Amino acid sequence: MLSILVPTYLEAENIPPLITGIFDSLNETGIFYEVIIVDDNSPDGIKNVVDQLVADYPVRLVQPKGRERDLSMSVIEGTLAAHGDHILVMDADLSHPPGLIPLMYRRLLEDESAFVVGSRYVEHGSFDTRWSLWRFFNSHIATLITRPLVQCQDPMSGFFAFRRDRVEDYDGLNPIGYKIGLELMVRGNFTSVREVPINFSDRELGESKLNLNQQIKFLRHLRRLYTVRFGALGEILNYGAVGAGGLVIDLLFYYLLQLLGMPHQLARACSFWPAVSSNWYLNRVATFGERKRRPHGRQWFEFVLTSLVGFSLNWGVYYILTSGTAYFDDYRLLALIAGVGAASVFNFVMSSLVVYNEKRQ
Ligand code: GDD
Ligand code: MN
Repeated sequence: MLSILVPTYLEAENIPPLITGIFDSLNETGIFYEVIIVDDNSPDGIKNVVDQLVADYPVRLVQPKGRERDLSMSVIEGTLAAHGDHILVMDADLSHPPGLIPLMYRRLLEDESAFVVGSRYVEHGSFDTRWSLWRFFNSHIATLITRPLVQCQDPMSGFFAFRRDRVEDYDGLNPIGYKIGLELMVRGNFTSVREVPINFSDRELGESKLNLNQQIKFLRHLRRLYTVRFGALGEILNYGAVGAGGLVIDLLFYYLLQLLGMPHQLARACSFWPAVSSNWYLNRVATFGERKRRPHGRQWFEFVLTSLVGFSLNWGVYYILTSGTAYFDDYRLLALIAGVGAASVFNFVMSSLVVYNEKRQ
């Protein structure tokens, strides 16, 4: 059986045309299906709407209780409530054409270890021309940064199908925000992603719930998935990126303070502080963001301390190499790189084991 999950919030007016659309698409195919509306307790009379449909269509309403409104959680709960072995998730607002459900289902039956995605970005796929440039870029950039995680042209799609038992541990799923499809692709046991071209049309009724807050959540979610997939390597890359950003801040203050008339030695000593503080903060919320947070003050102090030791190490390696061997005296840049390398390893190890030493959540 195919269980079609439709997460909803304030979509009552879209439900009747959606249900009839699904019915028209599946009625003559012989596909045995159910539709589960997973609604986050919308105050829009959705219950009456579904009640009027149950006599004629295989549809039921699930309204989870006791948590905040959450699209991804709704999809997980819907999956757990489903009777079918095969799950298909789609939006309620008619952006996802019900006419493609049979094709997606067929693709899944051809290869049950695959994750099937309704994709706007493969050949013959499209999205609404009314899309704003902002939404367009947003979607493309987001897709680009998921490349190392999944082989999919449209990993943000909310239209997808999979075999329920391909995900072993639904409690272990930990999506933040909107991208439950991406979460499933990364954490499930799927051997491939199969994309079916779709024409995504913008909603006619109601409004989108995707806002800036969701975008920020997406970045946090992405970082978590990188850590899931690449382990410590993900943290190391993040740490490196934060360090590079810190260098930019350092330089910015170094020049700015001199512009304001500060002597360069003093400017150098001062610019260290905003840079190290921002590094500390970003490592706290980003690089090691999955680890439990410790109190600010003491952690900042430890970070500064290890950074200073790291810098001494950096300088010490340079000093010893260049004064101790003629070779490094000839190739001082190598000595400098060796110093930076040693300090980076030291800083990362100290951060990981001491400064941000709590367990990942
Ligand atoms: N249960 C539940 N809880 N459902 C929700 C919630 C929630 O908190 N927020 C949104 N939904 C439902 C909506 O009612 C709709 O059926 C579906 O999730 C998609 O929400 P929209 O608000 O229409 O999102 P969108 O059109 O901006 O985003 C769509 O396109 C994105 C890619 O551009 C969705 O398909 C996204 O998943 C997709 O990433
Ligand atoms: Mn929508």
